Amino acid sequence: MPEARTLLADRFAPFGTTIFTEMTLLANKHGAVNLAQGFPDFDGPEFIKQAAIKAMGAGGGSDAPGQNQYARMFGAPVLNAAIAEGWLKRTGLSVNPDTEITVTSGCTEAICAAMMGLINPGDEVILFEPYYDSYRASVAMAGGVPKFVTLRAPGCDKGVPLRCTPLAGEGQFWFEPHELAGAFTEKTRAILVNTPHNPTGKVFSREELKLISELCIRHDVIAITDEVYEHLTFDASLPHVALATFPGMRERTLTLSSLGKTFSLTGWKIGWAIGTPELSRCVRSAHQFTTFSSATPLQWGAAEACGLNDPAMNAIRGLVGDLARGRSFLAGVLRDCGFAVHMPAGAYFIMVDWTDARAGGQRLGDRFSDDAAFCKWLTSEVGVAAIPPSVFYEHKDHGKPLARFAFCKRMGTLEKAAERLRIAFK
Ligand SMILES: Cc1ncc(COP(=O)(O)O)c(C=O)c1O
Repeated sequence: MPEARTLLADRFAPFGTTIFTEMTLLANKHGAVNLAQGFPDFDGPEFIKQAAIKAMGAGGGSDAPGQNQYARMFGAPVLNAAIAEGWLKRTGLSVNPDTEITVTSGCTEAICAAMMGLINPGDEVILFEPYYDSYRASVAMAGGVPKFVTLRAPGCDKGVPLRCTPLAGEGQFWFEPHELAGAFTEKTRAILVNTPHNPTGKVFSREELKLISELCIRHDVIAITDEVYEHLTFDASLPHVALATFPGMRERTLTLSSLGKTFSLTGWKIGWAIGTPELSRCVRSAHQFTTFSSATPLQWGAAEACGLNDPAMNAIRGLVGDLARGRSFLAGVLRDCGFAVHMPAGAYFIMVDWTDARAGGQRLGDRFSDDAAFCKWLTSEVGVAAIPPSVFYEHKDHGKPLARFAFCKRMGTLEKAAERLRIAFK
Protein backbone atom coordinates (compact mmCIF):
# COMPACT_ATOMS: atom_id res chain seq x y z
CA MET A 1 0.00 0.00 0.00
CA PRO A 2 1.44 3.41 -0.88
CA GLU A 3 1.57 5.78 2.09
CA ALA A 4 -1.46 8.04 2.40
CA ARG A 5 -0.63 11.45 0.95
CA THR A 6 -1.19 14.45 3.13
CA LEU A 7 -2.57 17.53 1.47
CA LEU A 8 -1.05 19.87 4.03
CA ALA A 9 1.97 21.87 2.89
CA ASP A 10 5.15 20.87 4.71
CA ARG A 11 5.56 24.31 6.28
CA PHE A 12 2.49 23.74 8.46
CA ALA A 13 3.19 20.14 9.38
CA PRO A 14 4.70 20.96 12.80
CA PHE A 15 1.85 23.19 13.96
CA GLY A 16 -1.48 21.28 13.98
CA THR A 17 -4.56 22.89 15.57
CA THR A 18 -3.84 25.75 17.96
CA ILE A 19 -4.03 24.89 21.63
CA PHE A 20 -6.68 27.60 22.10
CA THR A 21 -9.09 25.81 19.78
CA GLU A 22 -8.29 22.46 21.39
CA MET A 23 -8.84 23.64 24.97
CA THR A 24 -11.98 25.61 24.10
CA LEU A 25 -13.49 22.50 22.47
CA LEU A 26 -12.65 20.48 25.58
CA ALA A 27 -14.05 23.22 27.85
CA ASN A 28 -17.32 23.29 25.88
CA LYS A 29 -17.59 19.51 25.92
CA HIS A 30 -17.31 19.42 29.72
CA GLY A 31 -19.14 22.67 30.51
CA ALA A 32 -15.94 24.01 32.06
CA VAL A 33 -15.38 27.66 32.97
CA ASN A 34 -13.09 28.75 30.16
CA LEU A 35 -10.06 30.51 31.63
CA ALA A 36 -8.01 29.10 28.75
CA GLN A 37 -8.63 31.42 25.85
CA GLY A 38 -7.59 35.04 26.29
CA PHE A 39 -10.70 36.90 25.31
CA PRO A 40 -13.01 38.93 27.58
CA ASP A 41 -16.50 37.64 28.36
CA PHE A 42 -17.73 41.25 28.51
CA ASP A 43 -18.27 43.80 25.78
CA GLY A 44 -16.25 46.75 24.48
CA PRO A 45 -17.20 50.44 24.94
CA GLU A 46 -20.48 51.63 23.47
CA PHE A 47 -19.04 54.78 21.86
CA ILE A 48 -16.69 52.73 19.69
CA LYS A 49 -19.43 50.33 18.64
CA GLN A 50 -21.79 53.21 17.83
CA ALA A 51 -19.15 54.83 15.59
CA ALA A 52 -18.86 51.59 13.59
CA ILE A 53 -22.65 51.22 13.35
CA LYS A 54 -22.91 54.82 12.16
CA ALA A 55 -20.22 54.19 9.53
CA MET A 56 -22.04 51.11 8.29
CA GLY A 57 -25.29 53.08 8.08
CA ALA A 58 -23.64 55.90 6.16
CA GLY A 59 -23.39 53.77 3.01
CA GLY A 60 -22.70 56.01 0.03
CA GLY A 61 -23.21 56.04 -3.70
CA SER A 62 -20.75 55.90 -6.56
CA ASP A 63 -19.68 59.52 -6.06
CA ALA A 64 -19.00 58.96 -2.40
CA PRO A 65 -18.21 55.29 -1.97
CA GLY A 66 -18.92 55.63 1.74
CA GLN A 67 -17.82 53.36 4.49
CA ASN A 68 -18.99 49.94 3.33
CA GLN A 69 -16.54 49.60 0.45
CA TYR A 70 -12.84 48.71 0.42
CA ALA A 71 -10.78 50.95 2.63
CA ARG A 72 -7.47 52.36 1.44
CA MET A 73 -4.97 49.50 1.30
CA PHE A 74 -2.88 50.72 4.25
CA GLY A 75 -5.79 52.01 6.33
CA ALA A 76 -8.73 54.43 6.25
CA PRO A 77 -7.17 57.91 6.57
CA VAL A 78 -9.29 58.65 9.64
CA LEU A 79 -7.83 55.62 11.47
CA ASN A 80 -4.21 56.17 10.42
CA ALA A 81 -4.52 59.74 11.73
CA ALA A 82 -5.99 58.55 15.03
CA ILE A 83 -3.26 55.92 15.52
CA ALA A 84 -0.58 58.56 14.84
CA GLU A 85 -2.21 60.85 17.43
CA GLY A 86 -2.36 58.07 20.06
CA TRP A 87 1.27 57.07 19.36
CA LEU A 88 2.44 60.68 19.75
CA LYS A 89 0.60 61.00 23.07
CA ARG A 90 2.10 57.78 24.43
CA THR A 91 5.65 57.95 23.14
CA GLY A 92 6.33 61.52 22.05
CA LEU A 93 7.21 60.14 18.61
CA SER A 94 5.57 61.83 15.69
CA VAL A 95 4.94 59.74 12.56
CA ASN A 96 3.50 60.39 9.14
CA PRO A 97 0.12 58.59 9.21
CA ASP A 98 0.22 57.91 5.47
CA THR A 99 3.73 56.53 5.11
CA GLU A 100 4.53 55.09 8.54
CA ILE A 101 1.32 53.37 9.65
CA THR A 102 -0.30 50.30 8.08
CA VAL A 103 -3.68 49.07 9.29
CA THR A 104 -3.99 45.28 9.27
CA SER A 105 -6.57 42.64 10.20
CA GLY A 106 -5.47 42.32 13.81
CA CYS A 107 -1.96 42.18 15.16
CA THR A 108 -1.83 38.56 13.94
CA GLU A 109 -1.85 39.75 10.35
CA ALA A 110 0.70 42.44 11.17
CA ILE A 111 3.03 39.79 12.62
CA CYS A 112 2.69 37.63 9.53
CA ALA A 113 3.05 40.58 7.13
CA ALA A 114 6.15 41.76 9.00
CA MET A 115 7.76 38.33 8.66
CA MET A 116 6.76 37.88 5.02
CA GLY A 117 7.93 41.38 4.15
CA LEU A 118 11.24 41.37 6.02
CA ILE A 119 12.55 37.82 6.25
CA ASN A 120 14.34 35.94 3.50
CA PRO A 121 14.60 32.15 3.60
CA GLY A 122 17.43 31.23 5.95
CA ASP A 123 17.36 34.50 7.89
CA GLU A 124 17.37 34.01 11.64
CA VAL A 125 14.69 35.52 13.86
CA ILE A 126 15.17 35.64 17.64
CA LEU A 127 12.06 34.77 19.67
CA PHE A 128 11.69 34.71 23.43
CA GLU A 129 10.04 31.52 24.64
CA PRO A 130 7.34 31.00 25.74
CA TYR A 131 5.97 32.79 22.67
CA TYR A 132 2.56 33.66 21.29
CA ASP A 133 1.92 30.77 18.97
CA SER A 134 1.57 32.67 15.69
CA TYR A 135 5.22 33.82 15.85
CA ARG A 136 6.72 30.45 15.02
CA ALA A 137 4.24 29.76 12.25
CA SER A 138 4.81 33.22 10.74
CA VAL A 139 8.59 32.77 10.80
CA ALA A 140 8.08 29.37 9.14
CA MET A 141 5.82 30.84 6.44
CA ALA A 142 8.57 33.30 5.58
CA GLY A 143 11.18 30.51 5.47
CA GLY A 144 13.04 32.02 8.44
CA VAL A 145 14.88 30.14 11.17
CA PRO A 146 13.72 30.77 14.75
CA LYS A 147 16.32 31.12 17.52
CA PHE A 148 15.00 30.85 21.04
CA VAL A 149 15.92 32.69 24.20
CA THR A 150 14.20 31.31 27.29
CA LEU A 151 12.24 33.40 29.75
CA ARG A 152 12.67 31.55 33.02
CA ALA A 153 10.16 31.44 35.83
CA PRO A 154 11.37 33.20 38.97
CA GLY A 155 12.36 30.52 41.45
CA CYS A 156 11.91 27.84 38.80
CA ASP A 157 14.89 25.87 40.11
CA LYS A 158 13.27 24.13 43.04
CA GLY A 159 15.45 23.95 46.13
CA VAL A 160 17.82 26.50 44.67
CA PRO A 161 17.61 30.06 46.03
CA LEU A 162 15.30 32.24 43.98
CA ARG A 163 17.13 33.24 40.82
CA CYS A 164 16.46 36.26 38.73
CA THR A 165 18.66 38.80 36.94
CA PRO A 166 18.91 42.30 38.38
CA LEU A 167 17.67 43.47 34.97
CA ALA A 168 14.18 41.98 35.29
CA GLY A 169 11.43 43.41 37.49
CA GLU A 170 11.02 41.69 40.84
CA GLY A 171 9.15 38.40 40.64
CA GLN A 172 9.08 38.56 36.83
CA PHE A 173 10.14 35.94 34.32
CA TRP A 174 13.72 36.70 33.30
CA PHE A 175 16.36 35.82 30.70
CA GLU A 176 20.11 35.34 30.86
CA PRO A 177 21.73 38.36 29.15
CA HIS A 178 24.57 36.19 27.79
CA GLU A 179 22.02 33.80 26.28
CA LEU A 180 20.37 36.70 24.46
CA ALA A 181 23.72 38.11 23.29
CA GLY A 182 24.72 34.63 22.08
CA ALA A 183 21.56 34.30 19.99
CA PHE A 184 22.68 37.14 17.70
CA THR A 185 24.70 35.87 14.72
CA GLU A 186 25.59 37.30 11.32
CA LYS A 187 22.42 35.64 9.99
CA THR A 188 20.10 37.39 12.46
CA ARG A 189 17.65 39.60 10.64
CA ALA A 190 15.11 40.38 13.36
CA ILE A 191 14.17 39.94 17.00
CA LEU A 192 10.54 39.79 18.12
CA VAL A 193 9.81 41.30 21.53
CA ASN A 194 6.36 40.97 23.09
CA THR A 195 5.81 43.32 26.02
CA PRO A 196 3.65 43.08 28.11
CA HIS A 197 4.14 39.41 27.48
CA ASN A 198 1.72 36.59 26.80
CA PRO A 199 1.69 34.07 28.49
CA THR A 200 3.94 35.13 31.42
CA GLY A 201 2.53 38.62 32.17
CA LYS A 202 6.10 39.91 32.15
CA VAL A 203 6.61 43.59 31.38
CA PHE A 204 10.13 44.01 30.02
CA SER A 205 12.04 46.47 32.20
CA ARG A 206 13.79 49.56 30.84
CA GLU A 207 17.14 47.88 31.52
CA GLU A 208 16.19 44.78 29.54
CA LEU A 209 14.91 46.86 26.63
CA LYS A 210 18.11 48.92 26.70
CA LEU A 211 20.15 45.74 26.41
CA ILE A 212 17.98 44.53 23.52
CA SER A 213 18.32 47.89 21.76
CA GLU A 214 22.12 47.87 22.13
CA LEU A 215 22.33 44.37 20.67
CA CYS A 216 20.03 45.30 17.76
CA ILE A 217 22.18 48.31 16.92
CA ARG A 218 25.48 46.41 17.30
CA HIS A 219 24.30 43.62 15.00
CA ASP A 220 22.22 45.76 12.64
CA VAL A 221 19.04 43.83 13.46
CA ILE A 222 15.41 44.91 13.08
CA ALA A 223 13.18 44.78 16.17
CA ILE A 224 9.57 43.77 15.73
CA THR A 225 7.55 44.46 18.85
CA ASP A 226 4.15 43.05 19.72
CA GLU A 227 2.56 45.55 22.09
CA VAL A 228 -1.09 44.43 22.03
CA TYR A 229 -1.22 44.63 25.85
CA GLU A 230 0.50 48.06 25.93
CA HIS A 231 -2.23 49.64 28.07
CA LEU A 232 -2.80 46.69 30.41
CA THR A 233 -0.22 47.00 33.20
CA PHE A 234 -0.69 46.71 36.96
CA ASP A 235 2.61 47.57 38.61
CA ALA A 236 3.64 51.23 38.77
CA SER A 237 7.30 50.21 39.02
CA LEU A 238 7.06 48.38 35.68
CA PRO A 239 5.33 50.66 33.18
CA HIS A 240 5.13 49.67 29.55
CA VAL A 241 7.93 51.23 27.52
CA ALA A 242 8.00 51.11 23.71
CA LEU A 243 11.30 49.81 22.34
CA ALA A 244 11.05 52.33 19.49
CA THR A 245 11.66 55.16 21.99
CA PHE A 246 15.24 54.04 22.80
CA PRO A 247 18.08 55.93 21.12
CA GLY A 248 18.73 54.60 17.62
CA MET A 249 15.68 52.30 17.69
CA ARG A 250 13.07 54.35 15.91
CA GLU A 251 14.76 53.64 12.57
CA ARG A 252 14.89 49.88 13.14
CA THR A 253 11.71 49.08 15.08
CA LEU A 254 8.40 47.96 13.70
CA THR A 255 5.83 48.41 16.46
CA LEU A 256 2.75 46.21 16.18
CA SER A 257 -0.43 46.54 18.20
CA SER A 258 -4.19 46.28 17.90
CA LEU A 259 -7.55 47.41 19.18
CA GLY A 260 -8.73 44.07 20.53
CA LYS A 261 -7.12 43.83 23.97
CA THR A 262 -7.15 47.54 24.85
CA PHE A 263 -10.85 47.97 24.14
CA SER A 264 -12.19 44.42 24.65
CA LEU A 265 -13.12 44.13 20.98
CA THR A 266 -11.02 41.12 20.06
CA GLY A 267 -13.48 40.01 17.36
CA TRP A 268 -12.97 43.17 15.33
CA LYS A 269 -9.44 42.21 14.33
CA ILE A 270 -8.19 45.74 13.70
CA GLY A 271 -4.43 45.97 14.12
CA TRP A 272 -1.54 48.07 12.87
CA ALA A 273 2.18 48.36 12.26
CA ILE A 274 4.14 51.56 12.90
CA GLY A 275 7.58 51.99 11.37
CA THR A 276 9.68 54.11 9.01
CA PRO A 277 8.45 54.41 5.41
CA GLU A 278 10.97 51.71 4.42
CA LEU A 279 9.81 49.27 7.14
CA SER A 280 6.18 50.09 6.34
CA ARG A 281 6.81 49.40 2.66
CA CYS A 282 7.94 45.86 3.59
CA VAL A 283 4.78 45.22 5.66
CA ARG A 284 2.55 46.63 2.93
CA SER A 285 4.16 44.40 0.29
CA ALA A 286 2.74 41.37 2.10
CA HIS A 287 -0.47 43.01 3.34
CA GLN A 288 -1.61 44.11 -0.13
CA PHE A 289 -1.60 40.53 -1.41
CA THR A 290 -3.17 38.85 1.62
CA THR A 291 -6.09 40.84 3.04
CA PHE A 292 -5.41 44.03 1.01
CA SER A 293 -7.51 46.06 3.46
CA SER A 294 -9.45 45.56 6.70
CA ALA A 295 -13.17 46.00 7.41
CA THR A 296 -13.97 49.66 6.66
CA PRO A 297 -16.76 50.40 9.19
CA LEU A 298 -14.71 48.79 11.95
CA GLN A 299 -11.81 51.07 11.04
CA TRP A 300 -14.17 54.04 11.49
CA GLY A 301 -15.19 52.66 14.86
CA ALA A 302 -11.56 52.13 15.89
CA ALA A 303 -10.73 55.69 14.80
CA GLU A 304 -13.05 56.94 17.53
CA ALA A 305 -10.73 55.45 20.19
CA CYS A 306 -7.19 55.10 18.83
CA GLY A 307 -6.40 58.80 19.22
CA LEU A 308 -6.71 58.19 22.98
CA ASN A 309 -9.28 60.93 23.60
CA ASP A 310 -10.99 61.30 27.00
CA PRO A 311 -13.66 58.61 26.46
CA ALA A 312 -10.95 56.18 25.30
CA MET A 313 -8.73 56.89 28.29
CA ASN A 314 -11.70 56.51 30.65
CA ALA A 315 -12.54 53.17 29.08
CA ILE A 316 -8.91 52.02 29.46
CA ARG A 317 -8.76 53.13 33.10
CA GLY A 318 -12.02 51.30 33.82
CA LEU A 319 -10.77 48.12 32.15
CA VAL A 320 -7.40 48.19 33.93
CA GLY A 321 -9.22 48.68 37.27
CA ASP A 322 -11.51 45.70 36.60
CA LEU A 323 -8.60 43.55 35.43
CA ALA A 324 -6.54 44.46 38.48
CA ARG A 325 -9.39 43.26 40.71
CA GLY A 326 -9.71 40.04 38.68
CA ARG A 327 -5.96 39.49 38.89
CA SER A 328 -5.87 39.85 42.69
CA PHE A 329 -8.95 37.69 43.17
CA LEU A 330 -7.79 34.85 40.93
CA ALA A 331 -4.21 34.97 42.24
CA GLY A 332 -5.58 34.66 45.80
CA VAL A 333 -7.77 31.69 44.89
CA LEU A 334 -4.95 29.92 43.07
CA ARG A 335 -2.58 30.50 45.98
CA ASP A 336 -5.18 29.15 48.45
CA CYS A 337 -5.40 26.05 46.25
CA GLY A 338 -1.68 25.42 46.71
CA PHE A 339 -0.36 26.70 43.37
CA ALA A 340 2.81 28.79 43.21
CA VAL A 341 1.58 31.98 41.55
CA HIS A 342 3.83 34.06 39.28
CA MET A 343 2.15 37.44 39.66
CA PRO A 344 1.88 39.16 36.26
CA ALA A 345 2.80 42.84 35.87
CA GLY A 346 0.85 43.14 32.61
CA ALA A 347 -1.46 41.47 30.06
CA TYR A 348 -4.27 39.30 31.43
CA PHE A 349 -2.86 35.93 32.33
CA ILE A 350 -1.55 34.29 35.49
CA MET A 351 1.06 31.57 35.22
CA VAL A 352 1.22 29.10 38.09
CA ASP A 353 3.44 26.19 38.98
CA TRP A 354 0.92 23.43 39.71
CA THR A 355 3.27 20.62 40.67
CA ASP A 356 3.27 21.07 44.47
CA ALA A 357 -0.50 21.57 44.79
CA ARG A 358 -2.45 18.59 46.18
CA ALA A 359 -5.84 17.16 45.27
CA GLY A 360 -7.39 14.12 46.95
CA GLY A 361 -4.32 13.91 49.19
CA GLN A 362 -1.95 13.47 46.27
CA ARG A 363 0.74 15.86 45.02
CA LEU A 364 -0.15 16.82 41.44
CA GLY A 365 3.46 16.58 40.31
CA ASP A 366 3.36 12.86 41.23
CA ARG A 367 0.02 12.33 39.53
CA PHE A 368 0.47 14.09 36.17
CA SER A 369 3.43 13.73 33.83
CA ASP A 370 3.13 17.19 32.30
CA ASP A 371 1.09 20.37 31.89
CA ALA A 372 -1.09 18.93 29.10
CA ALA A 373 -2.21 16.01 31.31
CA PHE A 374 -2.84 18.38 34.22
CA CYS A 375 -4.82 20.92 32.14
CA LYS A 376 -6.95 18.20 30.51
CA TRP A 377 -7.81 16.80 33.96
CA LEU A 378 -8.52 20.28 35.31
CA THR A 379 -10.88 20.97 32.40
CA SER A 380 -12.74 17.66 32.33
CA GLU A 381 -12.81 16.76 36.05
CA VAL A 382 -12.60 20.06 37.93
CA GLY A 383 -14.51 22.10 35.33
CA VAL A 384 -11.99 24.92 34.85
CA ALA A 385 -10.02 25.22 31.60
CA ALA A 386 -6.44 26.51 31.54
CA ILE A 387 -3.72 26.47 28.88
CA PRO A 388 -0.76 24.08 29.11
CA PRO A 389 2.11 26.44 28.20
CA SER A 390 4.69 23.90 27.06
CA VAL A 391 3.23 24.33 23.55
CA PHE A 392 4.74 27.82 23.63
CA TYR A 393 8.24 26.55 24.41
CA GLU A 394 10.82 24.99 22.14
CA HIS A 395 12.46 23.67 25.31
CA LYS A 396 9.28 21.98 26.55
CA ASP A 397 10.58 21.12 30.03
CA HIS A 398 10.33 24.77 31.04
CA GLY A 399 6.57 24.70 30.40
CA LYS A 400 5.71 21.35 31.96
CA PRO A 401 5.28 22.53 35.57
CA LEU A 402 3.20 25.53 34.49
CA ALA A 403 -0.40 26.38 33.60
CA ARG A 404 -1.87 29.64 32.31
CA PHE A 405 -5.17 31.08 33.57
CA ALA A 406 -6.85 34.10 31.90
CA PHE A 407 -8.45 36.66 34.21
CA CYS A 408 -10.07 38.89 31.54
CA LYS A 409 -13.45 37.62 32.72
CA ARG A 410 -16.46 38.98 34.63
CA MET A 411 -16.16 38.62 38.39
CA GLY A 412 -19.07 36.16 38.27
CA THR A 413 -17.12 33.92 35.90
CA LEU A 414 -14.03 34.05 38.11
CA GLU A 415 -16.15 33.28 41.18
CA LYS A 416 -17.66 30.25 39.47
CA ALA A 417 -14.15 29.03 38.63
CA ALA A 418 -13.05 29.73 42.22
CA GLU A 419 -15.93 27.66 43.63
CA ARG A 420 -14.91 24.66 41.53
CA LEU A 421 -11.21 25.04 42.27
CA ARG A 422 -11.83 25.31 46.01
CA ILE A 423 -13.83 22.06 46.01
CA ALA A 424 -11.13 20.18 44.08
CA PHE A 425 -8.19 21.53 46.10
CA LYS A 426 -9.65 21.78 49.60
C1 LIG B 1 0.82 38.51 22.31
C2 LIG B 1 -0.32 38.56 21.36
N1 LIG B 1 -0.14 39.07 20.14
C3 LIG B 1 -1.14 39.13 19.25
C4 LIG B 1 -2.40 38.66 19.55
C5 LIG B 1 -3.47 38.71 18.53
O1 LIG B 1 -3.91 40.00 18.32
P1 LIG B 1 -5.09 40.28 17.31
O2 LIG B 1 -6.34 39.71 17.88
O3 LIG B 1 -5.11 41.76 17.20
O4 LIG B 1 -4.73 39.62 16.02
C6 LIG B 1 -2.63 38.10 20.81
C7 LIG B 1 -3.96 37.54 21.15
O5 LIG B 1 -4.13 36.78 22.05
C8 LIG B 1 -1.57 38.05 21.75
O6 LIG B 1 -1.75 37.54 22.97
